[in-house]
Amino acid sequence: MGNVILIGFMGSGKTTVGLRLSYRLRQSVIDTDKEIEKEEKRTIADIFAAEGEEYFRARETACLQKLQGSVRNQIISVGGGLPMRAENRKLLHQLGQVFYLRADVETIYGRLKGDTTRPLLQGDDPLTKIRVLMEERDPFYKDASDVVIQVDGKSFEQILDEIEGKVR
Ligand code: S3P
Repeated sequence: MGNVILIGFMGSGKTTVGLRLSYRLRQSVIDTDKEIEKEEKRTIADIFAAEGEEYFRARETACLQKLQGSVRNQIISVGGGLPMRAENRKLLHQLGQVFYLRADVETIYGRLKGDTTRPLLQGDDPLTKIRVLMEERDPFYKDASDVVIQVDGKSFEQILDEIEGKVR
């Protein structure tokens, strides 16, 4: 198999699915958020607060470019906003087979209410923020992906089975 890439909204399960898939397929897993935090030696929230979103987006593109030359046969989960840049969507396609973990607004809200680690969802009305962002992003996630996996109400085992059945 080539690289398996997981994209989707915050809270869609990319990180957990990535980890569990890596056990199943016996491949290592890379998470772009974690790579960036390691390189920057600070959290995503700190990076957003100190440098702003555009700086973080540039770091995401740089991270993908670096992976491009260095990873083979791995699982890669990426930050929820990464596929919004056309350049990044092209890089994702070149990097491997892209799976979109697609979740309803209600599923995401149920998982992320009270979360303090996602700068884009802080403030009074996270539900509206999720709804607005999801509407804007869903077409880009579809465009960036080879396979869409609807995750609502499914166990991790079911999701992993579906992905495994479709891995090339
Ligand atoms: C973001 C998603 C986060 C992280 C950052 C921005 C986004 O990753 O990259 O907070 O724009 O959707 P997760 O999708 O892993 O939460």
